Amino acid sequence: MTETELQKEWEALEERCKNCRKCALCETRTNVVFGSGDRTADIMFIGEAPGEKEDLSGTPFVGAAGKLLDKFLYQVDIDRERVFIANMLKCRPPKNRDPKEDEQDLCIEYLREQVRLIRPKIIVCLGRISAKRLIKEDFRITQEHGIFFEKNGYTICAVYHPAALLRDPRRKEDMLIDMQNIKKRLDELE
Ligand code: URA
Repeated sequence: MTETELQKEWEALEERCKNCRKCALCETRTNVVFGSGDRTADIMFIGEAPGEKEDLSGTPFVGAAGKLLDKFLYQVDIDRERVFIANMLKCRPPKNRDPKEDEQDLCIEYLREQVRLIRPKIIVCLGRISAKRLIKEDFRITQEHGIFFEKNGYTICAVYHPAALLRDPRRKEDMLIDMQNIKKRLDELE
């Protein structure tokens, strides 16, 4: 694909996503949170769904969980500008409830297209929601965080969701180790 073709595909995808009315979340959203960052990134982080700050700003991971994610990225020397960050759902579920199965079914096509266009070397699921959907249904975050899986030609792993770390800071040690290993793997793949 030429750069121009790629650019056109991104524009069409973003347009489609921003006008999406496939599920009821379109009624309550302020903004569609399409995803942000480097569209040529080697690494992609995938969270759950936008929260209040993300809904208001249109950008993923800008609230308290995002600030904590930024800290970990900084600690392991991964530049946020050079990653792409997206969510399973592009619109905020009311009161930040968990995404429903049917909402994920309808929304996942946007994420699949983003992955296809970026072709990252590593995909990192932030938390169990994206891990269950993208790695395997019976994924257990407490037991399988930080493990690398190979799926559909992609290297993929999951780490604790930063919001879970805010609730239970004892898990931050594990998070740092996982992030260090991800950075190491990324350097090896470069
Ligand atoms: N939590 C998520 O999973 N995604 C965001 O964008 C913000 C908080």
